[in-house]
Amino acid sequence: MTTTLVPPGPRGHPVLGSIREIQRDNVSAFMEAFRHHGDIVNFRGPLRINLLAHPDYVQHVLRDQHKRYPRPRKVQGCLSTIVGDGLVAAEGTSWLRSRRLTQPAFHRDILRRFGDSFTASTAELLDGWERRARDGEPLDIKSEMMHLSLANLARALFRTEWTDEVSRIEPAVQEALGFTHRRMTSPVDPLKFPSAARTRFRGALETINSLLYPMVAERRRDGGGDDLVSLLIDAVDPESGGMFTDEQIRDEVSGFFVAGHETVSTALSWTWYLLSLNPESRRRLQAEVDEVLAGRVPTVDDLPKLTYTTMVLQESMRLYPPIFVYMRCAAEDDVIGGYHIPEGRWVVVCPYVTHRHPEFWDNPEGFEPERFTPENSANRHRMAYLPFGAGPRKCIGDSFAMLQMPLVVAMIAQRFRLDLVEGQQVFPEPAISLRPRDPLMMWLRPNEETP
Ligand code: HEM
Repeated sequence: MTTTLVPPGPRGHPVLGSIREIQRDNVSAFMEAFRHHGDIVNFRGPLRINLLAHPDYVQHVLRDQHKRYPRPRKVQGCLSTIVGDGLVAAEGTSWLRSRRLTQPAFHRDILRRFGDSFTASTAELLDGWERRARDGEPLDIKSEMMHLSLANLARALFRTEWTDEVSRIEPAVQEALGFTHRRMTSPVDPLKFPSAARTRFRGALETINSLLYPMVAERRRDGGGDDLVSLLIDAVDPESGGMFTDEQIRDEVSGFFVAGHETVSTALSWTWYLLSLNPESRRRLQAEVDEVLAGRVPTVDDLPKLTYTTMVLQESMRLYPPIFVYMRCAAEDDVIGGYHIPEGRWVVVCPYVTHRHPEFWDNPEGFEPERFTPENSANRHRMAYLPFGAGPRKCIGDSFAMLQMPLVVAMIAQRFRLDLVEGQQVFPEPAISLRPRDPLMMWLRPNEETP
């Protein structure tokens, strides 16, 4: 079928189209455009993009026709400055090889071995919280969840305490991600011009390399480890018999820091925010944790019983999907929903919008973890909920996240009640992830003190 029909969309500025609205707050711009124009939207101006909101169209681009929709070169190029040719940025055969070599390490049966180190890092964090709670000061939960998710990732990757290195890699990853976000969203590449920001970015990359290369070399020298990096060192490509070089492992590991750190911490931060606004859900979560764990530290064997805890996390990622846009570029002319998609057009899937599509979600803005019971999920369109993406480029770390996060939430809920500091306004900031814009200040109340 051929057509020249252009999807509906905002008129925007005669020259700039909608670029200013998109640069200011792309999630709000996409949500508003969906409300006014529906399932497929055309944005005019120098940034010509089509937003796809309907799950059928999402499926077309991310799964059924994924070969015709690679990532845009600009996005790929910006990411590869940090992660080289690793999974996060690679395309085509190089991506496929990386995926084949990496996938076995992310199997749920392998990841189970990290459960104890996740609970150990969480216990250490909570011991510190006991003291902070006694001092009666509110805590920035966003930054606490950042430290925790990084400590958990580092322990799984390298099986080491890594305390000093973690404190150095965290600001470096943040700096590199912040600069990359600016590169992706500005019409002129800031990497091409000297500036203090560019110097900091390059310094951050040097810091990341100076930490990762020696760790990889050490794991290769020692051999026999059961951490993720040791598994990557030993991985053999079943098709070619090839293995990763140290440089390729550095690329993969920096990709895991880029993709698996802020995403997890953001999901956890929104979860505490939403629970503090929804006391009935918090009470149900608490009841489940008390019943299943009876005061002991959770293990991975408890996860199948922590069903409400898992549903709370799913619902939190429905409302605030940490990765909130998936960018693709049409490699050739196509037709979606009866509209022409010309070769070279950027198409955007925004799970924040699709997760609020009223045809698939009742009371889309409401926080209702019960949506995710097996009965309530049974007949839902498979692409109506996609916090981890879909198709062949679906998140490789989804099981890692869904093993780590319920353990963390259960352990915190066992010991503390977190209440948002009164009068605090919380805004989502569409940066690298959809995170709370400001520090998320919450009161810590040890559970024995709460009624
Ligand atoms: C709540 C946590 C997480 C969320 C919401 C999330 C979300 C996503 C999404 C949506 C994608 C696909 C993006 C696209 O199609 O353009 C993705 C890809 C990826 N994620 Fe995650 N992620 C999370 C945690 C993790 C973790 C813990 C790791 C690793 C330890 C990780 C590693 C990756 C990698 C390597 C890719 C690229 C996969 C590929 O292109 O083949 N993610 N993630």
